[in-house]
Amino acid sequence: MPKIYFKMESRIRRIGVLTSGGDAPGMNAAIRAVVRSAIFYHCEVVGIRKGYTGLVERQFMGMQSHSVSKIISQGGTILKSSRCPEFNDPHVRKVAVENMREAGIDALVVIGGDGSFRGANDLVKEFDFPVVGVPGTIDNDIYGTDYTIGFDTAINTALEAVDKLRDTADSHNMVFFVEVMGRDAGFIALHTAIGTGAEAVLVPEYPTNIKKLCDYLLNERRKNKTSGIVIVAEGDEAGGAMEIAAQVKRRLPDYETRVTTLGHIQRGGSPSCADRVRASILGHGAVKALLDGRKGVMVGLINDKIEYTAFDLACSRHNEINKYWYDIARILSI
Ligand code: F6P
Repeated sequence: MPKIYFKMESRIRRIGVLTSGGDAPGMNAAIRAVVRSAIFYHCEVVGIRKGYTGLVERQFMGMQSHSVSKIISQGGTILKSSRCPEFNDPHVRKVAVENMREAGIDALVVIGGDGSFRGANDLVKEFDFPVVGVPGTIDNDIYGTDYTIGFDTAINTALEAVDKLRDTADSHNMVFFVEVMGRDAGFIALHTAIGTGAEAVLVPEYPTNIKKLCDYLLNERRKNKTSGIVIVAEGDEAGGAMEIAAQVKRRLPDYETRVTTLGHIQRGGSPSCADRVRASILGHGAVKALLDGRKGVMVGLINDKIEYTAFDLACSRHNEINKYWYDIARILSI
């Protein structure tokens, strides 16, 4: 049992919590951890629906321990989420802070990606409002943490799908181009490629050379490999899977190619154990940070230890895929 922690001088009595940006499996586990930790430390909790939109529209609801019963295994977010471009307007942010102050909310936990942390950073800088962030996105590219909530579930979803596609690729001597999510980062693509033994992986971080890819596929055929899987991150600079497959087909017209875009199935589903555990530790860490007087920081896990990173840094940098792992993916696909 952790030491009962409650600083009498802490003026935080009521904590708001919201989820923002793209949903990610494990967000509910993080909400649960925030609610239960806050109650444990004698605070009240207000859930804000629909992300920053709910702050502006005063979509507030009191949350008790039972409000988060049995949500740990559910995908999505019970608080709902939104992308809220209006929040770029300082007047809109002022309304949000006024609404929170009127509702007696002393501090806020934002569960989301770097876009959401930018809005959170503004609330801290402009209004000195205490906000702490929890990294929730399947993309895993947020600076200041080894893992973001949702990434592990997403790669397992992709892995299962690619394993199934492999059966058809093998049975029909086809090359499948499988597009996975990752507008700016190749984490999902790289992990899926290594985990499924894909023949090639294309990521936004490194240039794509279609001629080299075709030479490689030809060489595979010469070695009697009759099928193949090429994992393409949606943000690859040469285009998505559809575009790349078309370019390959132009050079290798007798190849039977297919394209599968996994899309939003990667964002849904019951979170994996790793995501539930990470979300629980990070959610607790966010509440603890606020009660310790921290604000303007994101809670991350680095080497399994809680670390805090200023929003300024978390918003201006990105985690990058491991080049060494990228090279290993190629070595193992010979
Ligand atoms: O949450 C991040 C992400 O998964 C990106 O990889 C992807 O580009 C984006 O969400 C798609 O989100 P939507 O189309 O729902 O706005």
